[in-house]
Amino acid sequence: MLLKYQNEENNCLDCHNGNVAAKNIAAEFNKSYKHNIGNYLKIHVPNEPNQLYTNMHVECVDCHNPHAAKNMEAAPPNASGALAGVKGITQTGTAINPASYEYEICYRCHAGSSGSPPPATPRILVQNSALLEFAPANPSYHPVSAMGKNTMVPSLISPWTTSSIMYCTSCHAGDGSSSTAGPHGSIYPHILKLQNLTNDGGTTATGTTESPSAYALCYSCHSRASILSDASFKEHNKHLQSEVRAPCNTCHDPHGISITQGTQSNNTNLINFKAGVTTPSSSGQLKFVDMGGHHGQCYLTCHGKNHNPLSY
Ligand code: HEC
Ligand code: HEC
Ligand code: HEC
Ligand code: HEC
Ligand code: HEC
Ligand code: HEC
Repeated sequence: MLLKYQNEENNCLDCHNGNVAAKNIAAEFNKSYKHNIGNYLKIHVPNEPNQLYTNMHVECVDCHNPHAAKNMEAAPPNASGALAGVKGITQTGTAINPASYEYEICYRCHAGSSGSPPPATPRILVQNSALLEFAPANPSYHPVSAMGKNTMVPSLISPWTTSSIMYCTSCHAGDGSSSTAGPHGSIYPHILKLQNLTNDGGTTATGTTESPSAYALCYSCHSRASILSDASFKEHNKHLQSEVRAPCNTCHDPHGISITQGTQSNNTNLINFKAGVTTPSSSGQLKFVDMGGHHGQCYLTCHGKNHNPLSY
């Protein structure tokens, strides 16, 4: 390609290292959790398919088109100027070039491709396609490609409402105020913008001590005061702070639950329990049942307690 450097990213980092362009992107890629652009050499080709099933890799130019990129802000889910002229996969699974929405670029590699990172948490319903996890037909999902399903989310901090749409990069981006909006690199696992501890203590049941920083990611949009005052789930406080010390992640799946696996009565409120730490109840059941109006039932065994069911 008559490029200056053999390592693809060096053709960009020449300037995007804090010396020429405004932001230091090179520093982001030196963090512990990142898209490993330095691990791939001569795998990317310009005419590769929109969806990567083979030759998985990631380079700057998989997400950016240096000829088309421009300074232009956008509102979610629209792709900003930095992402102009890049191909993608739509929510219905078809190829699109250029992509209109940011998540369409992510679906190139995170819609069930082999080589995409496996699920971070073992769950009752296992899913590794972000496209399926965020589909608008699902019983619940964070609103990335369409408005959310739940109209009763009292914890939302303004300006977030139940009509809001967010980016993948509302959660996956560089940490700290000098970082960029992109999912380049972070000090937190899974390239998260803010901390989200997930230690449930396993069989030792020590869990995670609840604090504003322990679940900073969730508390950046959901009021900690509202969650701990049990405004929706009457047992939030007991499970988070006073007795069990379970992390949000043990009960809630942060992306969503696919309609191909979950149901409208068992998987609302992003409920998809962590497998292993939750086991079946004395009647052999392991499920959540939404009864409406902030009422529900749980059938499971966890922290040594049989729920068969326990209702709220
Ligand atoms: C010769 C220097 C230089 C090189 C090489 C270069 N860029 Fe840039 N790039 C800039 C400057 C200067 C800007 C203007 C905005 C800024 O300062 O960040 C820019 C802007 C951008 C933007 C838009 C940022 C915004 O304003 O939202 C993107 C995305 C981008 N470059 C990606 C790349 C990629 C990917 C490569 C490698 C294929 C690359 N650039 C190579 C200098 C360079
Ligand atoms: C061209 C392929 C490709 C594209 C496009 C892509 N990714 Fe990735 N992503 C990967 C690969 C491969 C990894 C595994 C780490 C590595 O090898 O770089 C990864 C890792 C990740 C991780 C870390 C997962 C973990 O468990 O540590 C997150 C989060 C992520 N990507 C989010 C995104 C988002 C958000 C977008 C869209 C803005 C996106 N990715 C676009 C290929 C891609
Ligand atoms: C509301 C916040 C949020 C949004 C929005 C979000 N993620 Fe995530 N994502 C997370 C968290 C938290 C984890 C880590 C989960 C865990 O620890 O089990 C994660 C994990 C991942 C992983 C690692 C593999 C896995 O599934 O566990 C990938 C890849 C990923 N996200 C990609 C994406 C893509 C692509 C989008 C947009 C289509 C997206 N995420 C939107 C919070 C979010
Ligand atoms: C996995 C996809 C992905 C990869 C790989 C990636 N970026 Fe980005 N980048 C993004 C996204 C998404 C944004 C945020 C766009 C927005 O919201 O405006 C972004 C933002 C940027 C910006 C604008 C920053 C700002 O705040 O103005 C620049 C410049 C940039 N990236 C350069 C690079 C360079 C250079 C590389 C390689 C060294 C790279 N990116 C690799 C997805 C990626
Ligand atoms: C023991 C399981 C469990 C844990 C741990 C848990 N939740 Fe929940 N959460 C639930 C259940 C069950 C509901 C459904 C309540 C209802 O019926 O409306 C819920 C509802 C919610 C809602 C939607 C309604 C509202 O209050 O806005 C949010 C947001 C939420 N939880 C956030 C969190 C966060 C953030 C954490 C961690 C700090 C957390 N949850 C920890 C079980 C849990
Ligand atoms: C960037 C802002 C943002 C972040 C970060 C965020 N949320 Fe949300 N969350 C929202 C919005 C907006 C809604 C409303 C969607 C709806 O109306 O269905 C929502 C809805 C929810 C719901 C209810 C979903 C349903 O369909 O019933 C739960 C549960 C929830 N979030 C838990 C979490 C947890 C746990 C975390 C941390 C891993 C988190 N959220 C991080 C913005 C966010």
